[in-house]
Amino acid sequence: MSTHIYLDHGASTPVNPQVIEQMMPFWTEHYGNPSSSHAHGRSAGFALDEARLTIAQLMNAKAKEIVFTGCGSESDNLAIRGVMWAARKNGTGNHLITSAIEHEAVIETAVQLRDHFNFDLTILGADEYGRVSVEDVAAAIRPDTALISIMAANNEIGTMQPIQEIGALAREHGILFHTDAVQAAATTRWDMATMPIDLLSMAPHKFYGPKGVGILYVRDGVELVSALTGGGQEDGRRSGTVNVAFAVGAAEAFKLAQDNLEAHVTHYTSLRDQLIAGVLAAVPADDIILTGHPTERLPHHASFALKNLSGNDLLMHLDMAGISASSGSACKTGDPKPSAILETIGLDPAWTKGGLRFTVGSQNTLADIEHVIQAMPLVVEKVRKVSQLFIPSN
Ligand SMILES: Cc1ncc(COP(=O)(O)O)c(C=O)c1O
Repeated sequence: MSTHIYLDHGASTPVNPQVIEQMMPFWTEHYGNPSSSHAHGRSAGFALDEARLTIAQLMNAKAKEIVFTGCGSESDNLAIRGVMWAARKNGTGNHLITSAIEHEAVIETAVQLRDHFNFDLTILGADEYGRVSVEDVAAAIRPDTALISIMAANNEIGTMQPIQEIGALAREHGILFHTDAVQAAATTRWDMATMPIDLLSMAPHKFYGPKGVGILYVRDGVELVSALTGGGQEDGRRSGTVNVAFAVGAAEAFKLAQDNLEAHVTHYTSLRDQLIAGVLAAVPADDIILTGHPTERLPHHASFALKNLSGNDLLMHLDMAGISASSGSACKTGDPKPSAILETIGLDPAWTKGGLRFTVGSQNTLADIEHVIQAMPLVVEKVRKVSQLFIPSN
């Protein structure tokens, strides 16, 4: 495994040993329930407060605006369902705007609200680069729009969205704005005092933190109806004993990401650009295109579509060549259906099953990238040969 090159940091990352070190005492030493008032509880509760404050300060936010959840998907679910249910309860709106390029955690939540709870839903398209247009958002706004949810950056094609402009538009109309920043959290500076964002989802396992914890920023004053009811933890927004060790790990990972942001972005961008240029030069031009925006893309993200090839077959052969990549999102790997994102950006069926994503990380080197560039033409040739065996002759 150690000789395998890991280029799937968009799916998950190794946990930084510094993060593990910070988490350890909260299993064996400070194991009290953070809601308990005795000494054991207080020491856990203090660490939880510290973790919340650390994240808040890094985003220029207030501690009470940070909610710990179980994963990025739960943060998206809580933001969208929580706001829409509150709007229903208060009679302040029934309409939600999102886009076809969102992660399933957003789109499936929105569709469920429409199909089973009679909310109105507008799903916007995107341009050939996967950008949602601010004008389209403006045109979709109605008097009863309660929430706009547009992701900060797409997981499959890396395109970053004009969230500043969309958030400003939402604010102009008095509509709440949520952004799924699961892919963009660690390479963006967040200043919630000035950014027009009311809710923001993150997943620490995407930036060298543990799996099993998510973060949701909720602007002070925004009401959420909780889907997880019970003891009223997290200010009534997410009941259940908080996982202190994971909250501590989430805070440490976010701190390390934000403290080293410029160095990481420089490293990632350099590897990404060499990877994109090298792969496009190595594979016959008729067989491959870059997907996503050429410049407005995540610094660690290189994505392609290959003509008349299956992304799954490409992944299998890359794996055999010692490279771990992805076809777009971790949840989709193994799914032979055409990519909804590649369809949304207007690619014809010859391309939509051939999505391929490489996401670099802090441990990757230029030698890793060179290995991929060298392997790609051979992998493409092998997959093409195998797939031709199955093309009917008549
Ligand atoms: C953009 C985006 N949103 C949400 C999620 C879901 O995050 P999690 O797997 O932590 O639930 C992912 C995961 O890949 C993602 O890329």
